[in-house]
Amino acid sequence: MLKDGATRGRHGPGGLEGARAVVMPVNLHEYEAAARERLEVSRFAYVAGAACDERTLQGNRAAFGRWRLLPRVMRGASRVSTATTVLGQVVSFPVLLAPVGMHRLVHDAGELGSARASAAAGTIFTLSTMSTYTIEEVGAVAGDWWFQLYVQRDREVTRDLVRRAETAGAAALVVTLDTPVLGRREADERNRFAMPPDLPLANFAGRGRDMRANEGGSALVAYTGSSFESDLGWDDLEWLAGQTRLPVVAKGILAPDDARLAADHGARAIVVSNHGGRQLDAAVATLDALPAVARAVDGRAEVLLDGGVRRGTDVLTALGLGARAVMIGRPYVFGLAADGEAGVARVLELLRAEVANAMALAGRPTVAEIDGSLVVPAGPLA
Ligand code: GLV
Repeated sequence: MLKDGATRGRHGPGGLEGARAVVMPVNLHEYEAAARERLEVSRFAYVAGAACDERTLQGNRAAFGRWRLLPRVMRGASRVSTATTVLGQVVSFPVLLAPVGMHRLVHDAGELGSARASAAAGTIFTLSTMSTYTIEEVGAVAGDWWFQLYVQRDREVTRDLVRRAETAGAAALVVTLDTPVLGRREADERNRFAMPPDLPLANFAGRGRDMRANEGGSALVAYTGSSFESDLGWDDLEWLAGQTRLPVVAKGILAPDDARLAADHGARAIVVSNHGGRQLDAAVATLDALPAVARAVDGRAEVLLDGGVRRGTDVLTALGLGARAVMIGRPYVFGLAADGEAGVARVLELLRAEVANAMALAGRPTVAEIDGSLVVPAGPLA
């Protein structure tokens, strides 16, 4: 529930005049506004912000505007089903929860709330290495979930994270490849972003790996600089695939050649991602990278996309351009900030309903029917 004090006057015939109406967001954009109202400035900026001039952040959204859907009529809207599979796992709709660090920065429910809401929605939650509840705590409440791995300089620590995720029930290992160093996030520099003293990086408790305020700038920069492996190579991906029985998902790929290499070195899926514009600013928009990546992989790995997905129609566009499913990051964290687990649940339900509505209106009642024929460049038809 949001803004309990907020009223909107008369709500139509027999309406709510005089009552205290609760203003519920009706789309994902409005959850961002709700989160902004709820969060302390530096925490909101950490989640919402991106690198440098935020051209890639904006570019991810803008890319969706360059495509249009070409609907077909009389295709049986009553049989709409949004269900599909990703790496053999059934999901209720082709939207997964992307890994995002430190959920308790925005709400006490933290990753537990997000994981529970994801399970209730029938999709897959991806737990970040940088979580504020432990792998085991999240595994105990989650439905289907994947574990996102930042390969640590200390390979024993890395192996330990992988083993813990396997034991706790993760169904895939998502290794992030786009963070050899941290992007230049100026808001975090200005705000001297750091973790509050009472908030642990849960998976490293007792190992002196908390991220406390430092003398200047963002503590995240110093933290990642000292902890994350900055010299990963393709042989490391193979090494990782050899460490685990879980399928490995390579996240943070934009170049078709990298997609091909990832598939060659054991990745079973690829996430076309620029880390939500938080890493290399001016990097290509994910939707612009997607078609060439899908062609390069040519069915050898499943292709997912994140970055800028806010509407059901965005999901259809990405699927039409070659994605098997998409991931959302900031939108569900905004839901968590606004209303805890219920906020995440509502974000997912809003998006699922939009996907179903768009599928009915586009004349593609099943996910299998969403193909390249649905998506055309904006402008006159050829
Ligand atoms: C960490 O991966 C971040 O993007 O803040």
